[in-house]
Amino acid sequence: MTRLGLLESKDLPAVHKLWKEAGLPFHPKGRDKLELMQAEINDGRTFYIGAFEGDRLVGVTVGTDEGRKGWINRLAILPGYRRKGLASDLMAWCEEEFARRGRGLVCALVEDWNGASLALMRKHGYALRKDIFYLRKSLRGEDW
Ligand SMILES: CC(C)(COP(=O)(O)OP(=O)(O)OC[C@H]1O[C@@H](n2cnc3c(N)ncnc32)[C@H](O)[C@@H]1OP(=O)(O)O)[C@@H](O)C(=O)NCCC(=O)NCCS
Repeated sequence: MTRLGLLESKDLPAVHKLWKEAGLPFHPKGRDKLELMQAEINDGRTFYIGAFEGDRLVGVTVGTDEGRKGWINRLAILPGYRRKGLASDLMAWCEEEFARRGRGLVCALVEDWNGASLALMRKHGYALRKDIFYLRKSLRGEDW
């Protein structure tokens, strides 16, 4: 039986482990440093939600309330737990939380090769905007 719950600082090392095992690209020495993740939680605009099988973290996502929109980031499920609806449940949690905070729009960035993630998002009603480019500038080097 899988349960969902808000993650706390003690869970954060397990989040790094899960992202590695799930093959999700992330930046453990950059913006995904444990201390920065902790600071995000303290700040209150970002929430980490986990899916647990017993005590084991098997899925995670990060919801970020930027004020105008909600963002779903870093969604990942361990390989042995996929296609059971866990990512869908984590997304639904984020959507409810953003709605509770008064946000009217929820977004995600997905790389074009990631067919699983694109299928997941589209199944849940996320429109694919092909007329927008993602532009970014790192102020802390490429690995940030
Ligand atoms: C993408 C990912 C999070 C999906 O997690 P999941 O728990 O398996 O997703 P769900 O079980 O909620 O899937 C819901 C629906 O999404 C679609 N979907 C999910 N994985 C899919 C896949 N591999 N191929 C095609 N469609 C897929 C299906 O429509 C699925 O419904 P169905 O199982 O009834 O057919 C998971 O594959 C993962 O962790 N991938 C690696 C990390 C990653 O790429 N994260 C996304 C970063 S943007």
